[in-house]
Amino acid sequence: MAKNLYQFNVAGSPVYVGSTALEELKSHLSTHYSEKDGIIILADENTHEHCYPLLIEEVPRLSHAFKIVIPAGESQKTLETCERVWNQFAVAGANRRSLLINLGGGMISDLGGFTGAVFHRGMDFIHIPTSLLGMVDASMGGKTGVDLYSLKNLIGVFSNPKAVYVWPRFLKTLPLRQLLSGYAEMMKHALIADYNFWSRLIAIPMAVISDWESYIVEAIKIKAEIVNRDPLETGDRLLLNFGHTLGHAFETWSLRHDEKPLTHGEAIAMGIICETYISYRTAGLSIVERDEIVKRILLNFNSYKIPTLAIDELVEITNYDKKNQRGRPMLTLIRNIGNAVAGQAVEPALIRESFFRFTDFVK
Ligand code: GLY
Repeated sequence: MAKNLYQFNVAGSPVYVGSTALEELKSHLSTHYSEKDGIIILADENTHEHCYPLLIEEVPRLSHAFKIVIPAGESQKTLETCERVWNQFAVAGANRRSLLINLGGGMISDLGGFTGAVFHRGMDFIHIPTSLLGMVDASMGGKTGVDLYSLKNLIGVFSNPKAVYVWPRFLKTLPLRQLLSGYAEMMKHALIADYNFWSRLIAIPMAVISDWESYIVEAIKIKAEIVNRDPLETGDRLLLNFGHTLGHAFETWSLRHDEKPLTHGEAIAMGIICETYISYRTAGLSIVERDEIVKRILLNFNSYKIPTLAIDELVEITNYDKKNQRGRPMLTLIRNIGNAVAGQAVEPALIRESFFRFTDFVK
């Protein structure tokens, strides 16, 4: 293995992180794929413009790969887009020996992983995450899928990539808003599992972090440990959903109503505020830690105002959450920073209250 490279195992897939990660990709390609095997690169319009040229510079062999480019944005994460991608796989003559390379953020790894997992009942795919969110969360652990009627990840399967290559240089192509989106997931990792990581994260404002690698490595360590204990999310992996049940409600609402919808991470940051409030109300989180978390989030994220009239719809959206049991939302809550508990049934009235309190916090 090359120098300056970290390697993790997440649910059986190797994850390489560092400035030489694409060297590792080169050797994987030359060991496993001959010129005859079809290689397909799936990118969105942004990653095609900004990341594909860098990838080709580092791995020139990929300039011969068949390219599929789809529009960017979570609103594209649908079965209609999958159909267009499958169609292109057929045009490329893809089969089970082919390799799909997903070059992009969470939308590309979720959708690309899903299209690869079911085409011909499964072809190999690898992820090259280009966003911070992809690097610390979406690209590893085998969750793939698409949204249905804007409901998040309703259709999908667990299917693990052959490998994940995290090359932090891609982050230089990202606008601040996209960096923030990944930062929200990092905050979540810290809040559920590691007080020291939380302290390190909040020691400086996100906007001044320039060397992301060590933060990425710490975040992946947390994710890997949790996913490896419970790859299919029957127990401990639910911890990773902190902020997500109510965060997904904000995201779905925004996809339905906003011309420029929230990013995933912005919605998760808002979900963390609400679920922190619920943790304070029912899981023993102190008011001091509650206020610290809310303050840190609001320092980094623009405050997003939701009309009070939207709260009924937000509550209704939570009724469709995959983790609900007997009609009741099941949340992950935190007892204190770095210590979370999964599978907590929460009354819809308290969910509603948390949305109201959210509007106070962001006033
Ligand atoms: N993104 C949460 C998980 O992978 O379980």
